[in-house]
Amino acid sequence: MDLQLKGKVAVVTGASKGIGRGIARTFAREGADVLLTARTRDAVEAAAAEIGAEYGVTARAVASDVSTAAGCDAVIEAAATMGGADIFVSNAGTGSNETVADAPDEKWQSYWDLHVMAAVRLSRGLADQMEAKGGGAMLMNASICAVQPLWYEPIYNTTKAALLMFGKCLSTEMIKRNIRVNTVNPGLIRTPDWENTARELRGDDWEASLQEVADEHADIKRFASVEELADFCVFLCSPRASYSVGSAYHVDGGMLKTI
Ligand SMILES: NC(=O)c1ccc[n+]([C@@H]2O[C@H](COP(=O)([O-])OP(=O)(O)OC[C@H]3O[C@@H](n4cnc5c(N)ncnc54)[C@H](OP(=O)(O)O)[C@@H]3O)[C@@H](O)[C@H]2O)c1
Repeated sequence: MDLQLKGKVAVVTGASKGIGRGIARTFAREGADVLLTARTRDAVEAAAAEIGAEYGVTARAVASDVSTAAGCDAVIEAAATMGGADIFVSNAGTGSNETVADAPDEKWQSYWDLHVMAAVRLSRGLADQMEAKGGGAMLMNASICAVQPLWYEPIYNTTKAALLMFGKCLSTEMIKRNIRVNTVNPGLIRTPDWENTARELRGDDWEASLQEVADEHADIKRFASVEELADFCVFLCSPRASYSVGSAYHVDGGMLKTI
């Protein structure tokens, strides 16, 4: 299937590694130009250079903190220099570990700024570019934890649930401008971070510890590869998914325990 993405400009936040990098790479594989963002300059520039060389597309990098207004402005300006965004994937995010009783206000605020305000500010700025090009697509990367919480991360669960609701509200507004908005809720996706954490906790036995996590949570009894999730995300952002509007899609190997 031709995803009709050749020559489109796709902006992916949190793209120096993990899922974001995989999504940017998949857009490039389909012929789209890509703008990768992350805070660590060396890493995001290296990822962009590698993806650009691999697929012969324009791949640029922005080093900025998207949990700040200035960091979002830098991304919006960089997208404008590429002719304006057609696609935006709000992916930058991270897990947490706390109790409600102990977590300080500052921690709640920082996760709100990263998981929600980054999506608010970037979608607002990039929508103008998309509208000027006739329309576009946006994808919020929330989490299964937006609907099925893990006990150790209440701040993550709460802010990802807020992102899911934001995606729905945004969709109703944006479709009038021919911009489709959807949300993806991944389950267990095997990223280098999961592997490193398992190595730290279990040493040589780290593969077994990942298998235990998969056995406990996912009916399919394995993690997804980054590529499996990225293929789904890129399809949703492509013109081939033209009737998908304002929906949330679980890519979770059966982890969700409700219908
Ligand atoms: N892996 C999973 O199993 C899983 C499951 C469900 C949902 N998700 C969601 O998927 C997204 C990606 O997860 P991942 O596992 O791929 O994470 P990851 O490997 O830790 O990558 C996170 C990326 O986001 C960037 N980032 C973090 N904070 C940022 C900030 N303030 N401004 C700009 N960039 C920032 C990081 O680079 P810098 O640190 O250099 O900024 C990095 O490029 C997250 O939103 C996560 O909640 C993951």
